[in-house]
Amino acid sequence: MHKQNMIIRPRRTRQNATIRNMVRETTLSTHDFIYPLFVDETISDPVPVASMPGVSRIPLSCVGKAVEEVASLDIPGIILFGIPKEKDTTGSSGWDKHGIVQEAIRAAKQASPETCVIADTCFCEYTDHGHCGVLDGETVDNDVTLINLCKEALSYADAGVDIIAPSGMMDGMVDAIRTRLDHDGHQNVPIMSYAVKYASGYFGPFRDAVDSSPGFGDRATYQMDPANAREALREALLDVEEGADILMVKPALAYMDIIRTVKDATHLPLAVYNVSGEYAMIKAAAEKGWIDEQRVVLETMTGFKRAGADMIISYHALDVARWLNDG
Ligand code: PBG
Ligand code: ZN
Repeated sequence: MHKQNMIIRPRRTRQNATIRNMVRETTLSTHDFIYPLFVDETISDPVPVASMPGVSRIPLSCVGKAVEEVASLDIPGIILFGIPKEKDTTGSSGWDKHGIVQEAIRAAKQASPETCVIADTCFCEYTDHGHCGVLDGETVDNDVTLINLCKEALSYADAGVDIIAPSGMMDGMVDAIRTRLDHDGHQNVPIMSYAVKYASGYFGPFRDAVDSSPGFGDRATYQMDPANAREALREALLDVEEGADILMVKPALAYMDIIRTVKDATHLPLAVYNVSGEYAMIKAAAEKGWIDEQRVVLETMTGFKRAGADMIISYHALDVARWLNDG
């Protein structure tokens, strides 16, 4: 019981840095981060991505060096995206034994065996039409795409990948991939499912980076409507049932409520993807001198963790790690 007229003073625990540190609820560590790498089979030197300052597409020959840098900053993992030489209607270079991601997996594991190598597992970078699977007329055929996803996942696992991350929002993708991996001796390769992925305008710079914009239409028949929150739970719980090991919510910034909801509804580790457009906005405002980049980035990353993220996939990861390592 408080005395009448007594002011309750939350400011007491804010009065100096020591006590603020003692009552801090959320902290960031380099171990929270996963860094995306774009590996391009068509180039021999790094090519900067115009809409993502500080990010480049790199050739296979640079993968080792890039992964060593990530490891030296104490970041535990990378997620690989490939830009192949050949695209076709099915995206068959996605399951080529010597495809760009398969080779990048081998190069990364050789350069830094302890780094966790995750492979984004989808087809939009590999198809000539830019959709995330095989077309039936104007729409993506779910069940035919599942067959190809299994081939792609198995091929990545055979190349030595540590985690498979299916991102195409096909129904039943986790179950299909889990069954195939188990059948072919990869029972211990976890699946990080892009369980809750919205049809988002924030993917724009990424699609420039990897040349994966759909040639016609959009992804609204497979990615989620940004207006839906209860459907996110449905998607997340389905992937739990299908055997996912880690769930993901993507994008992150405009979906903080979804991160919290999914976190509270499941017992799986939760990843969030701080996507290309979120990165581009901060970089652009910082370049103009309108915001303090370090401060805003750290605040944003802290927000993801506060909302429930256990791991954060972010293009800011190298900068964040440098800032954290420098105290
Ligand atoms: C592929 C994929 C996309 C992203 C990650 N995996 C793009 C898309 O669905 O069009 C977006 C990443 C980003 O914007 O940073 N399905
Ligand atoms: Zn895709």
